[in-house]
Amino acid sequence: MSKIDSLKPIVALCKRRGFVYPGSEIYGGFANTYSYGPYGAELKKNVKDLFWKTFVHEREDMVGIDGPILLHPQAWKASGHLEGFNDALIDCKDCKSRFRVDHLIEDVLGKEVVGMSLSDMTLFVKEKGIHCPKCGSKNFTDARTFNLMFHTPMSKTGGEEVAYLRPETAQAIFLDYKNIIDTMRVKIPFGIAQIGKAFRNEITPGNFIFRVIEFEQMEIEYFIEEKNWEKTFTDWLSCMHNWCALIGLDPNKVHEKEHSKEELSHYSKRTVDIVYDFPFGRSELYGIAYRTDFDLKRHAEFSKVPLEYTNPETKERFIPHVVEPTFGVDRTILALLCNAYDEETLENGEMRTVLHFSPKIAPVKCAVFPLMKKEALVEKAREVYLLLKKHWNTEYDEGGAIGRRYRRQDELGTPYCITIDFETLENQTVTIRDRDTLKQKRVAIGDLVPVVQEHLQLDL
Ligand code: GAP
Repeated sequence: MSKIDSLKPIVALCKRRGFVYPGSEIYGGFANTYSYGPYGAELKKNVKDLFWKTFVHEREDMVGIDGPILLHPQAWKASGHLEGFNDALIDCKDCKSRFRVDHLIEDVLGKEVVGMSLSDMTLFVKEKGIHCPKCGSKNFTDARTFNLMFHTPMSKTGGEEVAYLRPETAQAIFLDYKNIIDTMRVKIPFGIAQIGKAFRNEITPGNFIFRVIEFEQMEIEYFIEEKNWEKTFTDWLSCMHNWCALIGLDPNKVHEKEHSKEELSHYSKRTVDIVYDFPFGRSELYGIAYRTDFDLKRHAEFSKVPLEYTNPETKERFIPHVVEPTFGVDRTILALLCNAYDEETLENGEMRTVLHFSPKIAPVKCAVFPLMKKEALVEKAREVYLLLKKHWNTEYDEGGAIGRRYRRQDELGTPYCITIDFETLENQTVTIRDRDTLKQKRVAIGDLVPVVQEHLQLDL
């Protein structure tokens, strides 16, 4: 598996092969935005579908929603985001570049900055003579806070109000909690899942799609009685590790990082990050937090709507507590690309770039080639292609030498390539080549769908 120590070859492959493009490129780009091309969009869809299948369809205690991006502005007061969802920033007075001041300090200290006041950060930058990473100047402004929520004016009768683009999908779930209780016959413990966009006005660019201003989250709010929070937390943490294994991440690169008291968000009593060994270092992939009853209590207080749950047996009324496992979609894609990427020398001395994706999430499942561009072979190959395409995302390629066509599919991470040759015309069998072992075997066309299905370990 992957041994690379830089994102460069991955960024290049993503652009070259239609996984991820820089955002608004024809206008010179738009910082921290990316567009998912055809293969990236497939990969993303497979991840999200697998998440929904695993955590909503296969469980009895979960339901899913698709809530709005724009919530009532009061919701962000209640959640604490208006007041506390800030980064500390600093500007270089000479070249006007803007930085996260904690990141500049971390580069000097070699460890995370927690609990440092703005004035202490300003002093630290001055005393240590920190240079601007862009122009080298030491001429910085004082450190100040910057709210990460994007806002937009919204006209309403009698004036204008500011609306905020949600910085986490979670709050849309809390706002629908009462509707779910009233309409879905759910009983505690139960969870609500959601997949959707979130927006953060991140100041400093971050390692390709690792830190972007528009991203997707797959979040679960799991509602429980307070006394059960510790067990629920451990159970969900192990579900998160199982998920990492399911999508094919190398378990040796997946670790846990417990938040210290100072690092905890305003709503959390315990948070553990699932961190992954990216080529740029060990960094947060996912997180799990025990949010207590903070959010529902605050929304009940601000909306004046009671958000209590009544235990159907004991009739006891209480505000549920919440354990929140949260998964970033874009970081999943980056981890999958880093995990799968390899440059290998084949037995014949040729080099190949290959993505060893798990078939479950691979954007293209099979590719079909005629050995040569001869009419009878092409006709048969297209017949097989159309047969497979009914079941899985399948490509057809008749251009160039067969070796080059294999290389093209290896770069996309296609698990199986099927070739139609002269023997096919005689006995209706094809060769099927495994991306990882490079082994080929002959299979009857009539058996192809069940054989490929067995290899892919996918539902039809
Ligand atoms: N509801 C809790 C919450 O939003 P978070 O740790 O701030 O917690 C959850 O974000 C996940 O969302 C992260 O673990 C990460 O995967 C993803 N994420 C957060 N900020 C991101 C960004 N700027 N770009 C890409 N993904 C991001």
